[in-house]
Amino acid sequence: MRTGTGLSYATKAEFYRELAAQCHALIDNERDPIANMANCAALVFNTVPRLNWAGFYLLKDRELVLGPFQGQPACVRITLGRGVCGTAAKNRSTLRVADVTKFPGHIACDTASRSEIVVPLLAEDSQLIGVLDVDSPELDRFDAEDEAGLLVLAKIIAPKI
Ligand code: SME
Repeated sequence: MRTGTGLSYATKAEFYRELAAQCHALIDNERDPIANMANCAALVFNTVPRLNWAGFYLLKDRELVLGPFQGQPACVRITLGRGVCGTAAKNRSTLRVADVTKFPGHIACDTASRSEIVVPLLAEDSQLIGVLDVDSPELDRFDAEDEAGLLVLAKIIAPKI
């Protein structure tokens, strides 16, 4: 199997291992948070198949504010507890939504989005930094392996923000 953008892999687990290695290599020697988030968003968007949005929301003054992303322009501020991002952030736990139209309070930034996964970015002391938000135009696009793979990415990225 291959994606169209240079990551070759035999299994999804292997794909995410390669993605993690690429992500680590991209940001390891750079200390600028915006540059690191921008490169990670571009990497995820262009390598994980069948996405329409990938990017970051950062916790600022007790709300989420849009950070670097790839995809259509998105809503800038999300209250903690609102929508998929705000709920994942408030609970500091990953939220995988098979059908966003069935999620109470879902914020439709890109009407093409059908399923979504949001992974919190946590500091070493477990404080919330923000979230990694990944959307797909396909219903039920993300499974447990995607969740595990994106969680590893979030752990690589969080200390570099
Ligand atoms: N759908 C999200 C809002 C962010 S956009 O998908 C980029 C939500 O309900 O949290």
